[in-house]
Amino acid sequence: MGLAYPWDEIAAAYARAAREPYEPEPLGLLTARAAVAERYAPGVDPARVLLTASTSEAYAHLFRLLADPGDRVLVPRPSYPLFGLLADLEGVELASYRLDPHDGWRPDWDSLDAALAERPVRAVITVSPNNPTGSSLDGGALAALAERARAHGFALIADEVFCDFRRDGVALVDAARDGLLDDVTWFALGGLSKSAGLPGAKLAWTACGASETVLGEVLARLDVIADTFLSPAMVVQVALPALLELAPRIRAAIRVRLDVNVAALASLVGTPAGAWPVMGGWSVVLRVPAIHGDEEWARRLVVERGVVVQPGSFFELEAEGQLVASLLPEPAPFRAGLAALSALAAG
Ligand SMILES: Cc1ncc(COP(=O)(O)O)c(C=O)c1O
Repeated sequence: MGLAYPWDEIAAAYARAAREPYEPEPLGLLTARAAVAERYAPGVDPARVLLTASTSEAYAHLFRLLADPGDRVLVPRPSYPLFGLLADLEGVELASYRLDPHDGWRPDWDSLDAALAERPVRAVITVSPNNPTGSSLDGGALAALAERARAHGFALIADEVFCDFRRDGVALVDAARDGLLDDVTWFALGGLSKSAGLPGAKLAWTACGASETVLGEVLARLDVIADTFLSPAMVVQVALPALLELAPRIRAAIRVRLDVNVAALASLVGTPAGAWPVMGGWSVVLRVPAIHGDEEWARRLVVERGVVVQPGSFFELEAEGQLVASLLPEPAPFRAGLAALSALAAG
């Protein structure tokens, strides 16, 4: 991707950490959890932070915690495509609620209420900023979700892995601090893969909250689940405070890249292709004439033009003629990819 990473400092943090003795801690090393709480969950006791090797693993742990086999969890549509697999592997049934493209991809409350009326659900997942739409939940939406969580007794799981790349919206921990989540069991997920652009570091975190009567049991059960795997490597846990110190520099480089590529989307104006406004995250949803299905569009772009995009249906985008592109490529190939897209759209 050609982004400048402080590799020497990252390597030095790992080298220092490699000398530490192994201390198995089911929820993670307290020093690492305290560093997460300081930056991503101010005011949250580090005892309420769980470390995992990835956000995907955190989802698996939460499904094990909250759901029995066959229980239902709701996910937003469109969103991140891994949910189906994660749920299948844990024996959890997924259903979805719609995000409305014509309302800034906010939840379509009628569709959420219809899903809640159909069958009890154990958890509702939000992705904020969402992948691929970039949309974030505001305080009003979080309050509306919390009200439903209290009424229906489900937990709220907020995937906030892109929180450092949000342009608006409210973080779940801030909503909790403002009292919006009182009596709701909630989990806010983040990790190094996006916050430090280090997916290979394999370290993610989950901050959680619940009423006093429920919280102790949530933490005790998470402790058992996490103790069964003890998955985050010691070295990255010890290095975590240093990696979080370095992360703002990596994010700054990523943000410059995102801004340059978002600006390049203006080149689609006046062509048969277009783009939804980018509201956060690392992706853009592109619109193309629905003369082919989205998979055919993606196939032709890669085969005929060497341009890689994802079909919109992969993310359950409902309308035809939508593709998803990463905003991380180097600017010159990104501009060339946009030019190839509009040329193909022009026929
Ligand atoms: C919304 C969302 N959540 C979670 C993940 C996975 O993160 P991790 O690498 O921590 O498993 C991704 C990866 O793209 C993502 O887009």
